[in-house]
Amino acid sequence: MLSGHDEKLVPPPFLAAAAGHEVLTSHKQSTIFSTAEVNLALSNTTTVIRLFFYAILAACGGFLLGYDNGVMGGVSSSNAYLQLFFPEVMSSKMSGSGSVYCVYNDHILSLVTSSLFLSAAPSALLGGYLCNKHGRKAVLMASGLAFLIGTAMVASSFSVIQLVLGRLLLGVGVGLSTMATPMYLTEIAPYKWRGRLNICFQLFITIGIFGAQGLNLGLLSIADYGWRISLALGAVPALLIILGCILLPDTPTSLIARGQDARAKAVLGYLRGTSQKKEADTVFSSEVNEEFEILKNSVENTLSSQRGSFCALFTRLRCRPHMFMCCLLPFFQQFTGINAIMFFGPQLFQAAGQGDRASLLSCVIIGSVNVGSTFLALWLADLCGRKRLFFAGAVQMLLTLGVVAGLIQLIKTQYAGNTRIAAAIIALICLFVSGFAYSWGPLAWLVPSELANESTRSAGMGLTTFTNFFFTFVIGQAFLPMMCSMEWGVYLFFAGFVIIMSLYVQCTLPETMGIATEEVEGLICGSWPWRMWCNEKLEDQGVETIAVKPCV
Ligand code: BGC
Repeated sequence: MLSGHDEKLVPPPFLAAAAGHEVLTSHKQSTIFSTAEVNLALSNTTTVIRLFFYAILAACGGFLLGYDNGVMGGVSSSNAYLQLFFPEVMSSKMSGSGSVYCVYNDHILSLVTSSLFLSAAPSALLGGYLCNKHGRKAVLMASGLAFLIGTAMVASSFSVIQLVLGRLLLGVGVGLSTMATPMYLTEIAPYKWRGRLNICFQLFITIGIFGAQGLNLGLLSIADYGWRISLALGAVPALLIILGCILLPDTPTSLIARGQDARAKAVLGYLRGTSQKKEADTVFSSEVNEEFEILKNSVENTLSSQRGSFCALFTRLRCRPHMFMCCLLPFFQQFTGINAIMFFGPQLFQAAGQGDRASLLSCVIIGSVNVGSTFLALWLADLCGRKRLFFAGAVQMLLTLGVVAGLIQLIKTQYAGNTRIAAAIIALICLFVSGFAYSWGPLAWLVPSELANESTRSAGMGLTTFTNFFFTFVIGQAFLPMMCSMEWGVYLFFAGFVIIMSLYVQCTLPETMGIATEEVEGLICGSWPWRMWCNEKLEDQGVETIAVKPCV
C-alpha cells in the first residue's frame, strides 16, 4: 500500500496497527511529513526526555506479551513448580518410566500456559471499543493494573485455580496493551519517530521472550521459589506502564475524537515542546496550529470511515479477500508451530535428550536468534518483497522441520543419548526460528494491515489480533497431547501446514511492497481468486483493476 521508501517511515503494521488503530495512508503521510519536519523540536531537552518515556512505554507494551510467551515454558518444566502443582507429572518425570514425549502431557498444565490467550483474544477486541470511549491512556493504565494483579496472583499461587485465574488476568493485560500501546505511541510521538517507535514495539516482543528465557536460566535453579521470582518480574514492565500513564498525557487524537479539542491542542503543544504551558489559553506556534488542523481532519475522516467497519468487513463482497487474509494469515502463522517452541521449548529439548539446565540454555540461544532475525526482517521486507520472504522463510522452516523429525526418530530408535544429534537438533530449531522471525513472524501482522482499505482497517486488525491469540490458545492447549501421541510426527504435522500455507500465499496473495494504498484494492480485485468477488463492482465504480496471474 505504501511506496517502498515511504513505508519505513509509516506507523508500521505488525501488532502495532492492532485492533482499532488507523494506519496512515501514503497520501496522508506525505501531507503530514512536510509539517513534521518543521514541528520536531528535538534540540529541546525536555522533548528528548519525553521521547525517552515513549520508548520505555513501547518496550513495556511489547515486553508484556513477549515476557509471557517466553517465561512459562521454563517455569512449567521446573521441578519445584511441578512438585507443588502437578505432583503426578513430577513423579513421572523423576521415575523416567513411560515415553519421554508424554512426561508433560497434562491438560491442566497446558491450560495454565494457554489460558492467558483465552482472555487476551476478546480483550484485544474490547480494547478497540474502550480506547474510543475512554481514551488510550485509560486503557493502557487498565492493562498495566490487570497485568500487575495477575502477576501477584500467579507469583503467590498455591493452587492451580489461582494460577489459571491469575493467567486470565494477565491475558486481559496482554490483550489491552497489545492493542493500546502501539496506538498510543503512534498518536503521541512526533511523526518522524512513529515508525521507529512502532518497530520498537515489535522488537521488544522478541526481546521480552529472550529476557524471560535468560531469567529462567538464572532463576529457576534457586531453591523452591525461583519460578515465583521469574513470574514476579513481569511486574516490572507493568509498573513502568502505570508510571508512564501517570506521567504522560492522553493522545491529542483520542482527545479530539472525544470532543476535547482545547485540551488536545494544549497537549499537542506540550508534546512538541513548542509551547511553554499546558493551559488551554496558551498561544500556540503556527506549527502546532497547523499540525492540529491536520490531525482534526484526519480524526474526522477516520471516525466517519470507521463507522460500520466490522459490518463492512463481514458483509461486503469486495471486503471478503481482506476478511480471509485477516483470518488465514494469523491462523497459518500459529500453525507453523512457533509457539510450541516458545511455550514448550524446555520440554521439547528434554524429550530430545537434554538435561533441565541444558534445555533452558538452548531456549536462551533460540531466543537470541529470534531477536537477531527480527532485525533482519525490518531490512529485508522492503528489499525483497513480502511474497519472496514468505517463500524463503517457509522453505527454511520446512527443511528444518523435516530434518528434525528424522533426527528425533533416529534418537528414539538407534542413538538414544547421542549428544551430537541433540546439538544438531538445537541448531536446526535455531534455523527454524530464524526462518520464522524474518518471514511469517512479522509479515503475518504486516500484510493484513497493508491489504485493508480505509473502511475496514480497524476491524481487520481487530480480527487479525483476535484470530492470532485464539490460535495461540489452541496450539498452547493441543501441543503437549500432540507431542505425546505423535512424537516426532508432530514436526511433520507442522511441516504439512508450512506447505499448505506457502501454496496459499504464493497462489492468492498479491505482492504489496511498493504499492500505494489506493491501488491495493484494484490489485486484489485483479488477482485470482478474488476477482470473482469484486472485479465487476470495482470497475463499475471506476477503480482500475490490475490483472495478476494465479500462482506466479
Ligand atoms: C507471534 C507470537 C510469537 C512471536 C515469536 C509473533 O509474531 O504472533 O505468537 O510468540 O512472534 O517471536
